[in-house]
Amino acid sequence: MSTPIPTPPAVPFLGHAVSIDRELPLQSFCLLSKQYGEIYQLNLVGTKVVYISTQELLHEVCDDKRFRKTINPNLAEVRNGVADGLFTAHIEEPNWHIAHRILMPAFSTMNVRSMFDDMVDVISQLVLKWERFGPGRKIDPAQDFTALTLEAISLCAMSYRMNTFYMEGLHPFAEAMSDFLKESGARALRPSFAKPFMRAANTRYEEDIKRLSKYVDDILEDRKANPTDKKDVLNLMLTGVDKETGQKLSDDNIKHNLLTFLIAGHETTSGMLTFVMYYLLKNPEAMRKLREEVDTRVGDRPITIDDVHKLPYLIAVMRESLRLGPPATIRTTSPYEDTIIGGGKYALEKGVRVMCNIYMVHRDTKVWDEDAEEFRPERMLDGKFEAMPPESWQPFGFGMRGCIGRPFAWQEAQITLVYLMQRFTFVMDDPSYNLHLKQTLTIKPHEFYIHAIPRTDKK
Ligand code: HEM
Repeated sequence: MSTPIPTPPAVPFLGHAVSIDRELPLQSFCLLSKQYGEIYQLNLVGTKVVYISTQELLHEVCDDKRFRKTINPNLAEVRNGVADGLFTAHIEEPNWHIAHRILMPAFSTMNVRSMFDDMVDVISQLVLKWERFGPGRKIDPAQDFTALTLEAISLCAMSYRMNTFYMEGLHPFAEAMSDFLKESGARALRPSFAKPFMRAANTRYEEDIKRLSKYVDDILEDRKANPTDKKDVLNLMLTGVDKETGQKLSDDNIKHNLLTFLIAGHETTSGMLTFVMYYLLKNPEAMRKLREEVDTRVGDRPITIDDVHKLPYLIAVMRESLRLGPPATIRTTSPYEDTIIGGGKYALEKGVRVMCNIYMVHRDTKVWDEDAEEFRPERMLDGKFEAMPPESWQPFGFGMRGCIGRPFAWQEAQITLVYLMQRFTFVMDDPSYNLHLKQTLTIKPHEFYIHAIPRTDKK
């Protein structure tokens, strides 16, 4: 007989939605994991949702034959802006399969290598900005990394300069996107009867969507008016033919995927870079080791594409930062049929929503030891990472719905961090700052400020 999945006390009619923190839902889900253990169940606006938070259970629900990605209510709201773009498409939608087959080669490690020069172009703009600021200027790294990653995906994938570094504050596109994602999250937790009453929020939401789609319409129109033979992702979208069906992507689907890449391609990577900065500043010995590696193996000369693969400590720092701060914290999956997980313990009905709390899995003491909360890049070195049980570390999702942009994000972050280590030392604006998260579709450090001091200890 199966064990009942624990569930906290609920409010009559409303279930558990009212007890979820609106600003930081992740915090509520993690507290519940600590209270109820590896699995618990909530009633969210009339729907039963199961939450899991250990490596063992995650490993089971990563069986592609038994489980598939489902579009949770948050992503269902994001579909209002990006419809059947790769991230939010249902697996049954033909457009996902066509776009996946056409676009996968564009983000292969080999192809991403060819984007090296464009990445360096954008990263140099950030370096110049921070050099001009000088040590006295309080920098919001989350904001500047957002400018960097937005500019990088736009230039590398669409050969389109957004000129984010030449603006005060956030680019209007990034602002509209952040508001759109936040409101999508809020709408997902609202009962449907309440939605029509949120007039001001609804109007703003629709305006944000219009602004976002106008932006990609312009990029597409501009390309059609000024064709180029550059082999970028946008050209592949316009000309690529799916070998299986002989079909091309429709204009609508191209726009939805352009928007998808702009959203998925920058939110997450900027979060990752901000987490790296936070954990390095909180752990001066790790910062020292990373700097030493960069100084010894690259020195002052311009970094080349081959350098990025010769920096093991850098990779360990990135992996460990993604472990403690996975920007995409929750992934949703669901069983094709009634099934049992947890070694015969927990019964799951066909189609039930299973939320995989990656933030908690990455802190599972059974696999990461009692010091799981500590930032220790050494646990990722010398074959230890490769020897971890499967799915212990899963910031990029899983299987065929895993992240298409992983090689892009990885290379972009590697080059950025080498550039920054070569040129600056860093200090926190408030040395007593402790991590405080901000959540939209992803998480990142909130109200975290630094100073970038140009290095004088070289040459
Ligand atoms: C999917 C994380 C960077 C584009 C995903 C998923 C995760 C993820 C967890 C799976 C989501 C799910 O199962 O619901 C990350 C992280 C990144 C990153 C942590 C950076 C550190 C990027 C970049 C791009 C991108 C740079 C674009 C160039 C996508 C797309 C999907 C996806 C299009 C949907 C794939 C599909 O279902 O076909 N990402 N991502 N991501 N990511 Fe990323």
